[in-house]
Amino acid sequence: MHRTLLLFGATGDLAQRYLFPSLANLLRDRLLPPDFRVVAVARQNHSAETFRTALATAMAAKGGADPAAAEVRELLARVEYVAADLADPANVAAQLASYAGKPCVSFLSTPPNLFVPISEGLKAAGLLDAPSRLVLEKPIGRDLASARETMLAIGACVSEDRVFRIDHYLGKAPVQNLLALRFGNTLLEAVWNRQWIQSVDIIVAETAGVDGREGYYANYGALRDMVQNHILQLLCLIAMEPPGSLDADAVRNEKVKVLQALRPLSAATAHADSVRGRYEAGVVDGKAAAGFLQPPGQTPTDTFVGLRAHIDNWRWEGVPFRLCTGKRLAERVTEIVITFRHVSHWLFEKPRKERATPNRMVFRLQPEENIQLDLMSSLAAPEWGALELRPLPLDLSMPLSPRRRIAYERLLLDALNGNPALFVRNDEVEAAWKWIDSVAEAWREANTPILPYLAGSWGPAEASAYVQPAARKSS
Ligand code: BG6
Repeated sequence: MHRTLLLFGATGDLAQRYLFPSLANLLRDRLLPPDFRVVAVARQNHSAETFRTALATAMAAKGGADPAAAEVRELLARVEYVAADLADPANVAAQLASYAGKPCVSFLSTPPNLFVPISEGLKAAGLLDAPSRLVLEKPIGRDLASARETMLAIGACVSEDRVFRIDHYLGKAPVQNLLALRFGNTLLEAVWNRQWIQSVDIIVAETAGVDGREGYYANYGALRDMVQNHILQLLCLIAMEPPGSLDADAVRNEKVKVLQALRPLSAATAHADSVRGRYEAGVVDGKAAAGFLQPPGQTPTDTFVGLRAHIDNWRWEGVPFRLCTGKRLAERVTEIVITFRHVSHWLFEKPRKERATPNRMVFRLQPEENIQLDLMSSLAAPEWGALELRPLPLDLSMPLSPRRRIAYERLLLDALNGNPALFVRNDEVEAAWKWIDSVAEAWREANTPILPYLAGSWGPAEASAYVQPAARKSS
């Protein structure tokens, strides 16, 4: 396990909200080596002391970490601070040269335009020599061309097997459970295809808005911020062929095939297979919420996207994958709903065949983690004369693990240990961008409108087909 973590963007929101708190949790659980240290790197001028004080305050405000907790104090004692001009490779190299010589992990939690200059600086200082590793946050590029350009420049600094691209959804425990359930059970894998599955819905609904990230968001929108990475990764895990082993590349080989089989959206299908929206002022969780403010001069962007994806392969031909994400929606919920086909011949008087509910499997990732299997059963006593079918929801959840973990904990540990299984390979990133580019291009050609919706609603009225189905039931 590498013992030094260089954390770039250490004064940023992600670092304060998730990365440092994750490290504190790992220290609490004694999962880090005794001489583990963090070198926090950012532009601001700080001494180690002023940085630690500011970090303790920010961690308490954003993540609720108690500054007096033993693990927070232990973490702070292991944090050093280095100020550097992250856009200047020579300055990065000069400021960090003293850390060369020992393997380290550099984690770039910075805006993506800094990935290349930081990597060049690290390389010049010898900090990317094997076996040191580089961890990149999303987004890598904003389309296929820019992602390729970035990765080409980074590839000149460090070899692909030592680049760890984060998609924090892959660190979430229920996402890993998905693989366990799918491939550990004959019962599920036997029906996991077009013959028995009618549709798949993946929804990531957030009550939070874009607040404070307008500049970044206006350039990306929900399509590039959420669909390109998190939602497509979930889609891959649902749709991929069973890998030969759980070896990182065996799994990634299967995921990339799914991405490559996604049918491009075209101007002709844009209207039928997609919808875009942007929130306006409304009420979320009982509180007034402002609308999304489009920064002047920027191309209008979406905060809500619904897409009907088609996977052109043997297993999924004809099965729609409805993908949906939005900010400032009515509820925070992330779930995957697998809807099975109706039974072939209907025997029952009640309900009538057309009104019968098909079987469903719901993987809920957030806010709570559970798995529900909706079967049909009869609650009616025989003396009622007719056998009446009623839904029978079965709760398949595992008992709650004692401590809820931040997705980054697992990913930080894996990066320090050099285990790439939960990280995204370059060809996956490229294949995902290729499909996203087809969507963006189709919208441009078809002039797809960005429809307004009220903050606190389930998105534009035209999107009702995408906000399916378990999430809406609770509204
Ligand atoms: C990030 C996006 O990658 O994921 C954010 O940039 C989004 O816009 C966040 O809010 C959602 O993550 P989670 O774990 O809260 O569902």
